[in-house]
Parts: sequence; structure tokens; C-alpha cells
Amino acid sequence: MPETVAETGDRVTLRVKVNGTEHTARIESRLLLVELLRETLDLTGTHVGCDTSYCGACTVLLNGRAVKSCTVLAAQADGGEILTVEGLAQDGKLHPIQRAFGESYGLQCGYCTPGLLLSTYQLLQHKKDPGEKEIRKAIAGNTCRCTGYMNVFKAIRMAAKLSKEG
Ligand code: FES
Ligand code: FES
Repeated sequence: MPETVAETGDRVTLRVKVNGTEHTARIESRLLLVELLRETLDLTGTHVGCDTSYCGACTVLLNGRAVKSCTVLAAQADGGEILTVEGLAQDGKLHPIQRAFGESYGLQCGYCTPGLLLSTYQLLQHKKDPGEKEIRKAIAGNTCRCTGYMNVFKAIRMAAKLSKEG
């Protein structure tokens, strides 16, 4: 347990920065990160699509790393920085990754989309011009039941292009 978490019984106080905003919350020590985001902080853009740690709809960035937030305790994020889908758009303008998914029809029902956007974000942090193998690896933990993935690949390639253009 990180030192900054003050323990009292099975409840803890934690501090996290989510999308640039500091939050302090008293939570049950068993609360999952996805529950903290959705239920405590009302950031419902992060989805829950399974109960087997399989679908990746709950993917967020924790300290710059993509994690399935249904498999992380909120207390494990104490002192950390989290980026969720709500943090991608800036000043009312969609992030290039969001634009690319829209323009390439990389989504249909959209349930998987927040997770795919964050996995793409992490990929493009490390690879400005990812090849097909790298794209496949980056989204291997994200399941989409609608698109057949072809437009998702197209969207990620466009996202790389738009991100480079700034
Ligand atoms: S909700 Fe499916 S992996 Fe987290
Ligand atoms: S767009 Fe429906 S699950 Fe991916």
C-alpha cells in the first residue's frame, strides 16, 4: 500500500490527479479504479464490458501506462496521475485520435472506443509512426464486437498522421 494512503479500518483516503484535476476521496480499500472513476468521480466515459478482465473497455492511462482499470484497486493509484477519455479533448477541441476514429469510422456502437482511444494514445506516445504489428500489439487487449477492426486500424494510422501534423 502506498505510504500516502491513510488507512482506517477498511476505508482509506486517497489522492489522485485525474485529467489534470486533483481529487481526494474516502473510499473502501477494495474499491476498483474503474469504480472510483465511474461512481465516485462520475467519469462514466470509462466503460465496463466484462467481468473477466478481457474486453479492455475500461482501459485508462495510469502514470502514462495503459491499464485495465477493472483489474486495479483505486488505492493502488494513490498519488498517481490518470488520463481517461474525458481528458483527451482540450479547449472544446477533439484530440487528433478522437478525430481520426470519427473520420475513419473506427467505431459503431462506441462501447469499446474509450479503451481503444487510450491504448492508441499510449502507442503514439512511444511510436510516432507505428507499423501494423505494433498497432496489433497495442490494441491486443481491446475487444471490438462491431467493426471487424479494419476501420480501427485505419483510424490508428490516421491518428498517427494527424498527431504528427499537430
Ligand atoms: S471491463 Fe472488461 S477488461 Fe475491464
Ligand atoms: S464499436 Fe461496438 S464494440 Fe467496438
